Amino acid sequence: MASAEPTVNFNVLHRTCKLVVLLCFLHISVTVFFYVRSLDIPFSFVQNQQTRAGITGPIGTTGSTEAAKLHLEAKAAAEPEDELAAGKSLKKCPQTSPLLVGPLRVEFNIPVSLDEVEETNPNVGPGGRYKPKDCAALQKVAIIIPFRKRDEHLKFWLYYLHPILQRQQLDYGVYVINQDGDEIFNRAKLLNVGYAEAMKEYDYDCFVFSDVDLIPMDDRNIYKCFSQPRHLSVSMDKFGFRLPYNQYFGGVSSMMKEQYLRINGFPNNYWGWGGEDDDIYNRLASKGMTISRPSGDVGKCRMIRHERDKQNEPNPQRFDRIAHTRETMNKDGIKSLSYKVVSKERLPLYTKITVDIGKP
Ligand code: BGC
Repeated sequence: MASAEPTVNFNVLHRTCKLVVLLCFLHISVTVFFYVRSLDIPFSFVQNQQTRAGITGPIGTTGSTEAAKLHLEAKAAAEPEDELAAGKSLKKCPQTSPLLVGPLRVEFNIPVSLDEVEETNPNVGPGGRYKPKDCAALQKVAIIIPFRKRDEHLKFWLYYLHPILQRQQLDYGVYVINQDGDEIFNRAKLLNVGYAEAMKEYDYDCFVFSDVDLIPMDDRNIYKCFSQPRHLSVSMDKFGFRLPYNQYFGGVSSMMKEQYLRINGFPNNYWGWGGEDDDIYNRLASKGMTISRPSGDVGKCRMIRHERDKQNEPNPQRFDRIAHTRETMNKDGIKSLSYKVVSKERLPLYTKITVDIGKP
């Protein structure tokens, strides 16, 4: 009888040990799980590479594609699309695209080729046009890029932006407005040309004006228009991920057609670097419009480092011009724009329009 007691104690001890080992294992697993999750870099990097087979590879912060899929399905279910697009058989796309993945890893140390970008974006049509197949996009967006001799930057822009814009479920076209010749650069006039040329092609209702060297770091920064003009490049690495000043409207911005027309478009007489974005801000403010912006987190973006372009020296007249926007804006803008189209090429990933915009 006395010999049964040690066996019972031994069993209890054995079970307790098993439980302790199990708890330790659980503890370690949870710790490892959260630690690995906090290291989003390697995972998001892998996911940031676009798959050659399909449309755009999901880019995300969670390590697992499966988890991302489940997350997207849950999001889609939470936002039923029950409205039918007017006169169309396709349902309207949801207000928030279920394809978005959030923060992105953006880097410029590995060069990209246009062939590669073409291969990985098989649904982008000639001229850089795209619209979602299974829903009617909420906006028709023309993306206007002022340009001269920045082909390497443009490749990165196309590489990163095409997948993002498709995930944002936009009906969009990309217009690269190339200033012909070697005269001093005029960013705002090229943007006006982009507006005019894009309107000849399609009934765009929204315009995104983007520098060629700025890449968003989060696909929730939607390249579309809002009830107020939008400033999209709100936290640039160049400025330590903050706004340099409250009225800053440079880099990437968007405007509905009506907003753009209300301010008579952009000034045509800012030759050289600087001031034209401040003039645009003054135009908007003078018409009582305010600037909408994404949060600092969502609005993060990277600029491709480069030397200042030749023939784009700081414009010494900019301070004087900015001081007189209200007096000049009705005379100088889209209504008084004149230029000559030198060539128009509908390339696989964008429409390139080379223009003679004259000189100061
Ligand atoms: C210029 C703007 C420029 C900003 C940030 C201002 O002084 O007038 O054109 O975008 O600085 O660099």
